[in-house]
Amino acid sequence: MKKIISGLQATDSLTLGNYIGSIKSLVELQNENNLYVFIADLHSITVPIDPKDLEKNRKSIVCLYKACGLDFKKSKIFYQSSIIEHSHLAYILMCHSNLGELNRMNQFKSKSLKQSNKTETIPTGLLIYPCLMAADILLYDADIVPVGSDQKQHIELTRILADRFNKKYKSKIFKIPEFYPPKIGGRIMDLLDPTVKMSKSSENKKGTIFLLDKIEDIRKKIMGSKTDSLNKVNFDIENQPGVANLLTIYSSLSGLSIKEIEKKYINKNYGDLKKDLAEIVCKVVEDIQKKYNDAKNNKNLDKELKLNSSVCKKEAHNKIKEIHKILGLEYEY
Ligand code: TYM
Repeated sequence: MKKIISGLQATDSLTLGNYIGSIKSLVELQNENNLYVFIADLHSITVPIDPKDLEKNRKSIVCLYKACGLDFKKSKIFYQSSIIEHSHLAYILMCHSNLGELNRMNQFKSKSLKQSNKTETIPTGLLIYPCLMAADILLYDADIVPVGSDQKQHIELTRILADRFNKKYKSKIFKIPEFYPPKIGGRIMDLLDPTVKMSKSSENKKGTIFLLDKIEDIRKKIMGSKTDSLNKVNFDIENQPGVANLLTIYSSLSGLSIKEIEKKYINKNYGDLKKDLAEIVCKVVEDIQKKYNDAKNNKNLDKELKLNSSVCKKEAHNKIKEIHKILGLEYEY
């Protein structure tokens, strides 16, 4: 049994990329492992956000977790901000990181460019974001971290920080976690520009499938997705990135291998592929939406979150005590 941790930022607009790249594997892993999944609400304030929206998003994502199949009794699901030790350890890790390595993070580079090109207006939160992420993971001695491939660099940094701290203080306080991408679908691409990641913040929303989109809109988005003029259902990321992306989504949601799908469409065209894929995606999303509406009326969710949170809090508190001892800080708090 492995200890597993992962989180998603607090937004009510989760995408099919989030589902395939992260939530789906978490649901699959929850039966045989010790799973910790949190709503990364502290990460959500690294860029400006209206508190009312944040509160609404936090609740919405809890319902989406439930709707996607996370079991609140099997897994420890909680709000990151309910355990103050996350931000405390983030501070300690920040003091063991350097500006160069944080500056090199791809996500920092792309998100800060979106905000501004003047350092005076780039939020520091974006820079220190990976230290908070490292704290989330190291606080609970996670063995593996299931995330999409866009987060790989952050996991690598987590490993570096943990190893640096252990060596500096000649301790084994931090377990070195492993990056754990899904078998297929670690990077779902935009439907209109299959050379970039499907993202909730894309300008043209027609390239992104949101889990709370209207079902008919999802169908239209898939039917309108970009392919190529070869009209051959073939998995070739370099020359046919659009088709490769559709095949990836198809394989992840149907359980068929890419080879099996290629075979199935050997004498068919892209229209056939898109129509069948739309059917598969709509069925999955429709089911999630139905369960989402049930979850919104579930009065027990708050209670379950609090219960989970109190268990994790104890663990996090004990870990910080040990870290404080190592650092010569106050540990009876
Ligand atoms: P976030 O909220 O951006 O994304 C949540 C998860 O979804 C995956 N993902 C994708 N996977 C495949 N294709 C895509 N197009 C796609 N878009 C997003 C992400 O890789 C991620 O797994 N920093 C994290 C949240 C976080 C976290 C953590 C994760 C905070 N602390 C500790 C693990 C452990 C983030 O912003 O994810």
